[in-house]
Amino acid sequence: MNNNSLIFLSGFMGAGKSTLGKQLATELGYFFIDLDSYIENKNNKSIVEIFQEIGEPEFRKLETTVLEDCINGHIKTVIALGGGTPCFNNNIDLILKSGLMIYLQLDAKELYNRLEKAQFTRPLIEGKQKQELENYIADLLKNREPFYNQAQLIVNAKETTVAELKETVSKMV
Ligand code: S3P
Repeated sequence: MNNNSLIFLSGFMGAGKSTLGKQLATELGYFFIDLDSYIENKNNKSIVEIFQEIGEPEFRKLETTVLEDCINGHIKTVIALGGGTPCFNNNIDLILKSGLMIYLQLDAKELYNRLEKAQFTRPLIEGKQKQELENYIADLLKNREPFYNQAQLIVNAKETTVAELKETVSKMV
């Protein structure tokens, strides 16, 4: 880990990366970046529009470029990653060597409960019916866990508080 004090919040869609990330940044007196918002602002388009226009493989290239920009241009920053960011283009290696990666862990059932109500801004799950969505989440989580589990810190996203997270993180950065 280098000493630029970068903290990456990772986890599945719906894990609370942006919400908790923002709160953690405030607690630590750090800057905050939401990678999805950064991509949207840079391209003047929503993530849904970007997926529609260029498709997922090109989105992943864009995501990697923006991740590199964020890492190179910032210190003392909490970066909320997209759910897929650590799982493509060897981004995981860059993340792990650039700062502290935290995995906000939730099980598939809890993720389903959260995502059922929040499908429409997320192109990967938009329009999926109940059973299909449940299966999709379970399968994708299984595929992604080997990446998420490489995080230096794994916390239960349902139980952890910002105060606890700040306490733990302060000792690690
Ligand atoms: C994605 C998660 C989204 C966004 C894009 C792809 C994924 O971010 O980057 O829709 O592959 O899991 P959130 O995790 O913030 O929803």
